[in-house]
Amino acid sequence: MALLRFFSIWETILKIRLIATVLLMLACVTASAAPRERLSLDRGWLFHQGDIVQPPILGHEESYGNAKAGSAGGAAGNEYDDSDWRRLDLPHDWAVEGPFDPKANVSQGYRPRGIGWYRRYLKVDPADRGKHFELQFDAIATHATVWVNGNVVNRNWSGYNASYIDITPYLRYGDALNTIAIRVDAEAMEGWWYEGAGIYRHSWLVKRSPLHVVTDGVHATPRLVKDKQWSIPVEVTLNNSGKTAGDVIVEVTVYDPAGKQVAQRTAPARVSVLGTSAVQLPVTINNPALWSIEKTNLYRVTTRVLQAGKAVDETSLHTGFRTIRFDAAQGFFLNGVHVKLQGVCIHQDHAGVGVAVPDSVWEYRLRRLKELGVNAIRFSHNAPAAEVLDLVDRLGFVVMDENRNFNPSPDYMKQLEWMVKRDRHHPGVVLWSVFNEEPVQATEVGYEMVRRMSAAVKALDDTRPVTAAMNGGFLTELNVSHAVDVVGANYQVPDYDKYHKAYPNKPFTSSEDTSAFMTRGEYKTVKEKNLIASYDDDAAQWGNTHRDAWEAIDTRPYVAGGFVWTGFDYRGEPTPNEWPSVSSVFGIMDLNGFAKTAYYIHQVQWIKDKPLIHIAPHWNWKQGENVRVMVMANVETIKLLLNGRALGEQKVDPYRMNNFNVAFEPGKLEAIGYKGGKEVVRTSVETTGAPVKLELIPDRAKLAGDGHDAMPITVRALDAQGRAVPLADNEVTFAVSGGGRSIGHGNGDPNSHEDEKGATRRLFNGLAQLIVQTNYDSKDAITINASAAGLQAASVTIPVQQVAAIPYVASADAPLTFVRSWRIAPDGDARPDPNQKLASFDMNTWGWGSPPMRAAAGSKYHLYRASFTPRKNLATGTGRIRFASIKGKAEIWLNGQLIGKKDSYAAEPLDVTLPAGAGKREINVLIEAEPGQGSGIEGHVTIEPGLLVSSK
Ligand code: GAL
Repeated sequence: MALLRFFSIWETILKIRLIATVLLMLACVTASAAPRERLSLDRGWLFHQGDIVQPPILGHEESYGNAKAGSAGGAAGNEYDDSDWRRLDLPHDWAVEGPFDPKANVSQGYRPRGIGWYRRYLKVDPADRGKHFELQFDAIATHATVWVNGNVVNRNWSGYNASYIDITPYLRYGDALNTIAIRVDAEAMEGWWYEGAGIYRHSWLVKRSPLHVVTDGVHATPRLVKDKQWSIPVEVTLNNSGKTAGDVIVEVTVYDPAGKQVAQRTAPARVSVLGTSAVQLPVTINNPALWSIEKTNLYRVTTRVLQAGKAVDETSLHTGFRTIRFDAAQGFFLNGVHVKLQGVCIHQDHAGVGVAVPDSVWEYRLRRLKELGVNAIRFSHNAPAAEVLDLVDRLGFVVMDENRNFNPSPDYMKQLEWMVKRDRHHPGVVLWSVFNEEPVQATEVGYEMVRRMSAAVKALDDTRPVTAAMNGGFLTELNVSHAVDVVGANYQVPDYDKYHKAYPNKPFTSSEDTSAFMTRGEYKTVKEKNLIASYDDDAAQWGNTHRDAWEAIDTRPYVAGGFVWTGFDYRGEPTPNEWPSVSSVFGIMDLNGFAKTAYYIHQVQWIKDKPLIHIAPHWNWKQGENVRVMVMANVETIKLLLNGRALGEQKVDPYRMNNFNVAFEPGKLEAIGYKGGKEVVRTSVETTGAPVKLELIPDRAKLAGDGHDAMPITVRALDAQGRAVPLADNEVTFAVSGGGRSIGHGNGDPNSHEDEKGATRRLFNGLAQLIVQTNYDSKDAITINASAAGLQAASVTIPVQQVAAIPYVASADAPLTFVRSWRIAPDGDARPDPNQKLASFDMNTWGWGSPPMRAAAGSKYHLYRASFTPRKNLATGTGRIRFASIKGKAEIWLNGQLIGKKDSYAAEPLDVTLPAGAGKREINVLIEAEPGQGSGIEGHVTIEPGLLVSSK
């Protein structure tokens, strides 16, 4: 049932997206000036792994040129030859594609990261001249420098925040290509876990009216006024990149979950040229449907900017009405109702895909947490992708949103402020966390730093408490706990009561606990093989087992709740092991979201409204072997039976679980749960035979053919009676055909060094997971075949629903080199020597220009000079130099040789064969003007592939 409900949530999300897309497309077709277009920039990138270092600049001319706007050289520049770069679509994580290296960083999962470059070309319609263009990168790991048309336009030194870049001033329109170049330095580390490498979240191009609402510029965080009366003190921030001051009407409309308008307000605003204005539009909403973990009622807030009665910009967000309160004695209250936080900490990588996790795989991950009974998530130790918080609001979780870098200096404060501005409308966010475990936490320095960061948060959102995850120092004279609203404790269980006794009025939560170890499907610890048994007996020295940690939290009413380290395994931090272990074993689930024993321990502790019972381990052992059986149930008593024979009955222990020692005999081990003496639930495990065939289980019934939708497929091996074989380790080969492809796979083995992208994957303790994604614009079903030596193959076909494409920017190819940077000799009536020398220190005798370059009627001769490096594929003489238009007679000289002539005065195109040869060339264009007429290079000059079409 629960599964069905979540299927339908996902289907609804898909439908809403489909309708929104269609509406947007209609809007584009019907109104030439669509108020705002947010176009996906995920398609059509070129990628080079490794750094591209430019040779040192030595000459004066190069030094001078290098320092000028738009003149970035090498791969950062306009004309770099990237024709042999790899083509790919975003999101992309290159670290997960490569092999493991025992010499690489253990915390990053022994994945070398390094440096990479991305480039992309962009054409801009001249009809869009005057609009405001913003590039958005939702996250790039880790240090990124972005150039547009050779100008550095952004430097971002964090892999966990977005960059919004106004590229309007640098754009070229029409046929001229715009170049985006990005150098990504993933040697830089911000964490001690796997962080991936590259542009691993979405990218966008947002086209807006010059007078527009800035990104994240609508502050709409509801608050309760009294009784059932709520207000949203909406504040809208406008910017004007236009050439005249603008008078506009800002209109805010609130729609209820059914789409009915429930409030509207307008206010006038004036925005000066290149200025910013903030407009207040408080709205009142009476008796709204409240947002809660169970009922995720979401309201839409739409902001329109009207200029002369016409909507010039429009943006929407969703929000929800709920109250939150952290009580020092009783913990957390949502809408006045007590909720114990049954939380998990999670990092952001998944099997097969690294940190480039498709949104729909995030939906799968969150759905798995929901099924487990999780109601709270701490996105440790960084803000998640925007799409993840949308899912959080829709599926119903409360969230601790955490800042990455603890530093109140201006650059870092911007990262914190970005997070709060982007996320403050989400009803799911209930806590802002400014840090995790900082050594200065027990000192005045830590206190002063947090005080500033907390004030910055409060200035942007005073509706939520600020916390910090401390792992000690709570009781020093002056420490961070004095500067936060809710004290967060990582581990330190003995300090819980001490702190509460010393500060009984300070709200308190565990911000991180547990750190227990188990390897999925293993029930014996084998140290030499880095395998840890799944009976919840092992934890880090600083941590506790799952059972101990939860008991400590659940039995203390003043502790608002807990956040288990962690919900899922993640790459890196293979504690307590090192190589050959490459991923952590802390997870309640493995890297694929497959359940470990911890999953069932927490599930029976956290889900109270339906009877549950589980048995660990599987039932494939040696005859007579003494097996420890753990039964996990949320009922009153349980009974265990082996092949129908009662082995014992026990009262359920909700904290410790129930344990039995059983001498193994093959057959069926069954557990029955009772309430009030009546059987309410039962489960069993059976001894299986050897595997005979494979099975593929898709996570959902269909996929959307939008090139983004993806799903995990569970791979198992079955015995002759169709039972999943728990210890199967067959190597499976995948073949994916039709409208999609494999984007990776995993099996949850923390010691596996298999290629996550290849065609094969071994089952680990009976399971593997393949992730498939639709191709762009596809409607063909995806067929997956899985085969393994000695087993019957499996095949499954997943229907693909044709949907409108997510609006996107078409990728432009760049087979051309544009010759853009020219020197212009002084005019004269005497024919100049076209190959005359110009001293390399002379930056002023000759002028500077870029086509179109027109000289007015007057002097007879005009000389233009440029240099260019043709693309590698043109070195054999198969290219041409194309002048879109030259007015006047012309001679074309290349490296001192006359290579082409134009004999007419009329403005005409000219094609000249590019002689064979590699490297940099100097071109001189000598133009003779028609007496009394202007002349010049009037159109683009390009170096193109292809033999000559016409030459004069
Ligand atoms: C904590 C830390 C986590 C993780 C964990 C492992 O100290 O906050 O990021 O390292 O330990 O036990």
